[in-house]
Amino acid sequence: MQRVLSGIQPSGSLTIGNYLGAIRQFVELQHTADCYFCVVDLHALTVPQDPRVLRQKTLEVANLYLASGIDPQLATIFVQSHVPAHAELAWLLQCMTYYGELGRMTQFKEKAGGKETVTAGLYTYPVLMAADILLYQTDLVPVGEDQKQHVELTRDIAQRFNNRFGPALVVPEPMIQKVGARIMALDDPLHKMSKSTDNPESAIFMLDSPDAIRRKIKHAVTDSGREVRYDPENKPAISNLMEIYSLCAGEPLEAVADRYNGRGYGDFKKDLAEVVINRLAPLQARYRELAESGEVLNILSAGAAKAAAVANATLAVVQEKMGLVRAAARL
Ligand code: AQP
Repeated sequence: MQRVLSGIQPSGSLTIGNYLGAIRQFVELQHTADCYFCVVDLHALTVPQDPRVLRQKTLEVANLYLASGIDPQLATIFVQSHVPAHAELAWLLQCMTYYGELGRMTQFKEKAGGKETVTAGLYTYPVLMAADILLYQTDLVPVGEDQKQHVELTRDIAQRFNNRFGPALVVPEPMIQKVGARIMALDDPLHKMSKSTDNPESAIFMLDSPDAIRRKIKHAVTDSGREVRYDPENKPAISNLMEIYSLCAGEPLEAVADRYNGRGYGDFKKDLAEVVINRLAPLQARYRELAESGEVLNILSAGAAKAAAVANATLAVVQEKMGLVRAAARL
């Protein structure tokens, strides 16, 4: 069975970009692979967070994993900071990663751009992500298009380690779906939809009310003309909305294009809002039940224990190969 690992940062409220680009794939993969899904709270700290909100969002992401259909009997769900090996391996790998490599990361340039001060953590964040992946001897990393470069860096680091110290780390492959890999913002189809956006109208959040979803889709920008046609290059805004429709309704893009052939944007947007609302409604109901029950804490505790057993074994091999003296017992 192939090993899969992926994570989501609790850096805001999850969007349908996170759902369609990542979680939806996680739910499918748990049936065929040995899956580890974490809430990467240490990554969220790379930009300033309100401690109270971070704690709340960490549990929210875990509950949304469960509400979306990730089954703790099939997949291991845990919080990154509950397994200290992530931070430990990240340090060891930082000592094998070059300054220039990190400076080339597009996401760093985007997130650091225009900021007066940027933390060292934001710069080294891709190495922590490499540690997340390599600790579990991961074969496949399901991610959206935006994370592909980080998985490529992870491959480079693993290969470098294996070449220098002998085989120890599995070299992972990114797994990127064709449609939905990059859901774009509602107010700007050239920028991806993000959970830490300054403009909440630019994103549909997984826990948005039906009224908020209708309002946001109604006001979403469209392209010139009025034809509902899938053409990402010339009609990026409507093509993005069509991708959301196709994924939420479970219908191929061609079927969506045929249905709205000869009808205008208004009709399409009205229906799109209902399709998104219907897709999210059962998940939101399950989320409310889970959040009330508090059951997630037990699930995360069992998940961390299972994850730590795998992670500590890899860490021990890496420490040994790099020349660290093993402590008599892990404290
Ligand atoms: N718009 C998107 N379309 C498709 N997939 C997306 N993902 C994120 N946004 C989209 C995928 O969701 C997973 C979670 O990624 P993350 O939490 O590590 O951070 P991110 O990629 O930086 O996501 P956000 O929502 O944009 O968060 P912030 O605003 O905090 O930076 C990844 O698999 C990602 O590809």
